[in-house]
Amino acid sequence: MWPSLIAKAKEGGLDVIQTYVFWNLHEPQPGQYDFTGRNDIVSFIKQVQQQGLYIENEYQNIEGAFHDDGSRYVNWTAQMAVDQNTGEPWMMCKQEDAPDPVINTCNGMRCDETWNGPNSPNKPSIWTENWTSFLQGYGEDTYMRSAEDLAFHTTMFIVKMNGSFVNYYMAYVYTGNSGECVAFLLNNSSRESVQVVFHNTSYTLPSKSISILPDCKNVVFNTAMVSTQVSTRSMQPIIRFDSPQQWATFSEAVPQFDQTSLRSDTLLEQTNTTKDTSDYLWYTMRMEPNSSKTQYTLKVDSFGHALRAYVNGALVGAFMERRSAGLRQVLIQELNFTSSPWGYQVGLLGEKLSIYTDEGSSNVSWRQYQNPSTLIWYKTTFNAPEGTESIALNLGSMGKGEAWINGQIKIVLKSNTPKKSCGCQFNPTITMVAAALTFAHHILLSKPSFFLHSTKTRNAFTTFVSVSSPFLRRRHKSTQPVAASLLQLGGVQISKQDVVKDEPTNNVPDLIFSKLGLQLHRRDNHPLGILKNAIYEYFDANYNNQFQKFDDLCPIVTTKENFDDVLVPADHVSRSYNDTYYIDAETVLRCHTSAHQANLLREGYTNFLVTGDVYRRDSIDSTHYPVFHQMEGVRVFSPSDWNNSGMDGTLYAANDLKACLEGLARHLFGAVEMRWVDSYFPFTNPSFELEIYFQEKWLEVLGCGVMEQEILKRSGKTGNVAWAFGLGLERLAMVLFDIPDIRLFWSTDKRFTSQFTKGELGIKFKPFSKYPPCYKDMSFWITDSFTENNLCEIVRGVAGDLAEEVQLIDNFTNKKGMTSHCYRITYRSMERSLTDEEINELQWNVRDKVQRQMNVELR
Ligand code: DAH
Repeated sequence: MWPSLIAKAKEGGLDVIQTYVFWNLHEPQPGQYDFTGRNDIVSFIKQVQQQGLYIENEYQNIEGAFHDDGSRYVNWTAQMAVDQNTGEPWMMCKQEDAPDPVINTCNGMRCDETWNGPNSPNKPSIWTENWTSFLQGYGEDTYMRSAEDLAFHTTMFIVKMNGSFVNYYMAYVYTGNSGECVAFLLNNSSRESVQVVFHNTSYTLPSKSISILPDCKNVVFNTAMVSTQVSTRSMQPIIRFDSPQQWATFSEAVPQFDQTSLRSDTLLEQTNTTKDTSDYLWYTMRMEPNSSKTQYTLKVDSFGHALRAYVNGALVGAFMERRSAGLRQVLIQELNFTSSPWGYQVGLLGEKLSIYTDEGSSNVSWRQYQNPSTLIWYKTTFNAPEGTESIALNLGSMGKGEAWINGQIKIVLKSNTPKKSCGCQFNPTITMVAAALTFAHHILLSKPSFFLHSTKTRNAFTTFVSVSSPFLRRRHKSTQPVAASLLQLGGVQISKQDVVKDEPTNNVPDLIFSKLGLQLHRRDNHPLGILKNAIYEYFDANYNNQFQKFDDLCPIVTTKENFDDVLVPADHVSRSYNDTYYIDAETVLRCHTSAHQANLLREGYTNFLVTGDVYRRDSIDSTHYPVFHQMEGVRVFSPSDWNNSGMDGTLYAANDLKACLEGLARHLFGAVEMRWVDSYFPFTNPSFELEIYFQEKWLEVLGCGVMEQEILKRSGKTGNVAWAFGLGLERLAMVLFDIPDIRLFWSTDKRFTSQFTKGELGIKFKPFSKYPPCYKDMSFWITDSFTENNLCEIVRGVAGDLAEEVQLIDNFTNKKGMTSHCYRITYRSMERSLTDEEINELQWNVRDKVQRQMNVELR
């Protein structure tokens, strides 16, 4: 199998094979090894070598797990690879200290800036992963880097780093003879295009671009002018599997508590319980129903990935989760069964009997295909198509599950619907509850319309997603009014008429005005204030009280301060009326604390922290709010700071920045695992994000970078270098205090406010209520000018903090080209139960306003 696959890959243009060795394949049980057949990795590597390809390995991301022995481990693996004597050049990506002769390479988005280059002069500069996007979690927005940005950094990598190879985009090797002339003309400004004269000829360079002149005369390529090619693959169906006669089925047995031999008095973590055996785990328990009850509600909180819940052998609900695995909490009515006797069965009967092999298949009786249902194995047999063409198996209709081919190749499918928790209704006379975890659907080959249907119900509190930068991905938020009339903001007197105006250039609603001046971050007993003070403490202690602190700067700023001063391009989305609150064409409510950077630098401050409320128009969900809080930090260096370090100013500042923020993360979270991710902000270069590993997830906690020279120059600080960071306080506070819903920060309910004490960072919030949500759907034909943010603004205007989420649940275009949207609005109070009348009134109000103000046709 391998030689022909490798040959095809090579013919298709592949030069390097990235290897991921899944050790459980080679050592299925501790001490039992399997290097037979397709598990023979040495022969695989030899075949790769025979066909003249390279092999790359990645250790840097697991090195930490070996602690002090990490680098010994890396050396050992390098030695082992080299000792194979396959004649193969070896590479280790991201491994700055890759031992000779292994080549260290770069992975990232800007290897021209973020990488130090090969660690020995006889190694080539190789960019093994030029990231065009990031891996996404379930339900996360897609992010695609632009072709122009890829072209720019790729070209820079070749020119500046002497790059010889770039994977994912293009490969380029230049061998020049004497007398030849090649030029790369660079415009590094992200804002303006420039005119340059080179060899007596004038060239226009668009912003942030490079022109390539292979003869020093003619521009053959400019990175801003890339026109992206789109290629699609077409498949010719050869065999279809859409008739019931082609399928035999075997229903998985739902185990009963009494049949299980593995027992525990608590919910076990799934990965450790199933270790190396199966992706599935049954959790079973028994409960005596109370005879007077007619209906029960089962609530399950799970770490992931997918759950099917059965009561008395019948399916009652399903949902999927994000990462990591297992049940966390099980409630039936208000009774908590988390710590009661549980019986476990690891894996499925079908797995135990290997019914996906010829032999095992005869151990069970297969039935004719019947109605599609859950936890069923489907089997079909067919003759391999003739010829040597590649064939593809389309498992698109399968949903979640695992598929086996010839009893050997196992394919695990995950579908994409994010679901956090399930609340399932079922009828009484319960004798047993069991849930099969992870991949709920098994088939051998796919058949259309076998889908896993997930319930739409959400648990009272969802885990949160980030309040992140407008310069990265757009995310969502929601609101609630508190009356205010004349405000003191940063020493300025502001009245409502100054902020909310009935003019087309003003889009600030009353509700947002009511948040101005509340300054939650200045309350010492409020989680945001406690957090701010803890960060102050860190800076004071580590920088000898050098950092000046500002937490009362007026949130009303000019567009120049908010955007131009920090180099936000003229056409950036964050400038639109749809995204930012404008008071008039030149004045906005700051959308980030970076709006104060330039002024403070100009005033001569060189070490400072700015904390404040920031405002962003956005959609609504229970984890986002149009007002939140950020802290900005800036530190300026002069040449004497870095001169003796052996580094240039930028590298020096980047190192100092990383050390400072890692220290801060440790100060706040204790010993946490962290990682740096390449990023992009208009105001920094290079830019990074810090992520911390908290409760089994990587969380973005802040954006930062080395300040663009242009900002320093305009502030009269030419010759200096600075770093800057911006962090979202809610984001960190939700994690640190276990606060499950962002609206709680605005709660004046004593049951919330009384739980926090000045100076106490470790307190965990105890939820005081989980009032039921109420869903209302609304459909309408949209017009071209429709935006979701405008809809959310109306919902917030009517329902304030009672609006938890506005979610698009259906979207179609009819034959006449009219597009219909159906939105589900979730209403819920943090503090009390809502009455039907109250919600109906809100919903009618919303409908009325939507129809009148958005000019849409309700359906
Ligand atoms: N202003 C950015 C935002 O609103 C955060 C940020 C990123 C601030 C990088 C910075 C920085 O100072 O260097 O998301």
